[in-house]
Formats: sequence, C-alpha cells, structure tokens
Amino acid sequence: MKRDGRGGIDRRGFLCGMAACGCAAALAQTGCTFSEVYNQTGAGELAFDINQGDFSALAEIGATLPIDIETDGDPAPVLLVRNAQDSVLALERICPHTFCDMRTPVGVWDQPAQQLICVCHNSVFASDGALQAGPSPRGIAAYDVEFDPATGQGLVRIGTAADVAALAAALTEQGR
Ligand code: FES
Repeated sequence: MKRDGRGGIDRRGFLCGMAACGCAAALAQTGCTFSEVYNQTGAGELAFDINQGDFSALAEIGATLPIDIETDGDPAPVLLVRNAQDSVLALERICPHTFCDMRTPVGVWDQPAQQLICVCHNSVFASDGALQAGPSPRGIAAYDVEFDPATGQGLVRIGTAADVAALAAALTEQGR
C-alpha cells in the first residue's frame, strides 16, 4: 500500500486495503468513515520463538522487544511485551500523540500496573491499548497474539478486521 509522509497509508491506499481485507462492514458498524482510520497498518504476521535470537529477551517477564513486522505495505513498528508467564502482547509502537517511538527507554512497561507509558509526554496505555491518561488523541492498537508458553513459540497477526474495528470504535468514542 502507498504511504503518506508520516509513514501511514494514504487515504486511497487505505480504501484499497479495506476493500481487499473485507473490513468495510466493521467500519460501517461503528459509524466511522474511512478517512478517520486511514493510517491503519497493512496486514501481516510474524512467527517468533523466545528461545531464539533477539526474541530470547522475552524469556523475562516484564521485558519488551521492538520489532518491525513485514506487511503488505510498509513494515509495522510493534512492541512485543512479555506481560505474563503465559502471555505476550503486541502493541502499536509509535505513540499517536507526536509519534515518539516507544522502544526502551521512551516506552516504559509498568509490569505491576500492566501499562505502557510513553515518557515523551506521559501518555499511558493499558495492556489492551486503551488510553488511560495523557495527551494522546487515542489508544494504540493491540494486535492479535498466539503464544504457547510450553514451547516458547508464538504468532503475531496485524491488520486484521478486529484491529480495524477496535481502532474505528476508539475514534468513534472520541467523536472524531
Ligand atoms: S509522543 Fe507519546 S505522549 Fe507525546
């Protein structure tokens, strides 16, 4: 897909992507317009194994790992978080406020509170991406993750219909 100057997909590219993934119904349900979610990422997935390579950082509970996931558009910046023994989160890594990259040390994962803090201006996001505090105009995407703690293997999927519906719902709540 074609990207705008901020690294987001331009509106035409987004419309084409929506048509391709069949997500238009999700937007219709929320009442959002396509243009309000034009910077949604493309679709892609990443298999990982916490026993191998950089992913071994995720062997520690509370650890984070920035990763760029290949999509049918540009790579999507994602922050993986080992937030529990049996769970890995995949969160949108670029803060929606003024676009700080929430890799360490800009993004601080508060393990007891299960929150991601963007220290640029102190926006706080819950483990499901919901905005808890701060100046960000919206929450961040929390992508679908399958993780098997017995093997340490997992799969992240981004750009699914659920991602688009969640983002559109968040924007609708804000009346945008
Ligand atoms: S860029 Fe994250 S709070 Fe401002």
